[in-house]
Amino acid sequence: MIGRDIYNGLIRHIESEIQAGRRHAALDEKLVAEFLALKVDSPAPQAGPGAKPARPAPPPTVVSAPASATPARALAPATAPAPAAADFATLDDIATAIAQCRACALCNSRTRTVPGTGNRVAPEVMFVGEGPGEDEDARGEPFVGAAGQLLTKMIAAMGYEREEVFIANIVKCRPPKNRVPEPSEIEACMPWLERQIALIRPKCLVALGATAFKGLTGDMKASITKVRGVWHKHGDIPLMPSFHPAYLLRYAPAKKSAWEDLKKVLEFLGKSPPPPSKSKT
Ligand code: URA
Ligand code: SF4
Repeated sequence: MIGRDIYNGLIRHIESEIQAGRRHAALDEKLVAEFLALKVDSPAPQAGPGAKPARPAPPPTVVSAPASATPARALAPATAPAPAAADFATLDDIATAIAQCRACALCNSRTRTVPGTGNRVAPEVMFVGEGPGEDEDARGEPFVGAAGQLLTKMIAAMGYEREEVFIANIVKCRPPKNRVPEPSEIEACMPWLERQIALIRPKCLVALGATAFKGLTGDMKASITKVRGVWHKHGDIPLMPSFHPAYLLRYAPAKKSAWEDLKKVLEFLGKSPPPPSKSKT
């Protein structure tokens, strides 16, 4: 009998090795046989996004990848089965599964999960932040605190209502004391966002801050100051990185650059900002 935590930890380790690009490993056949013979204790916990909902004990070489994976995230050999997140057909199903997700330690401190809100049908823009803060954790909605109010103004400055765009985060549970999510937490949560993006099909993505950019590109060393204002890609979807509104609240001079970034988004969409009176942030 093997503990579920140990079993899941091992599976996660194998998945992260594959995500890091490792394709081969020397395996002791006897050990593999022993592993395959192990029984996992039950009941099984709720599935995480990278695990099949009722995952039978698979051999350790079975690894899944998000259907919408960018090349950097192409985790799996072509023959690997679809991951759990990809099995969810609607955003409501994903939100329900996120509410039960225990794939990383952030589940322990959350009050509510925050899957995302807004226009679910091919919005022109999908904004991606870092993770819920205190207000978002309390309400289960993204960007409703101080940074959220600024984001709402930025969206209005572009000429949109909040409901016309989609707003989500890299991690769906609040990190304790609003700390930056750990790379392992980002990795654990990304399949949810990948699936959301695949279903929503936004015309473009705006990554708000370094964590969003890192999660969406897999470039974990990126500096937002260096990458902002330049078009990138998430799979086949154009991705504009910009500053996080919480940073803009702390450092107002950066608002000018953020507005330049958002104007590039409008330009890409063939739009102009509304008259200045409406576009003041
Ligand atoms: N900051 C974020 O990154 N996301 C939110 O939802 C709120 C604040
Ligand atoms: Fe699951 Fe994401 Fe919450 Fe971690 S942060 S428990 S992966 S929903």
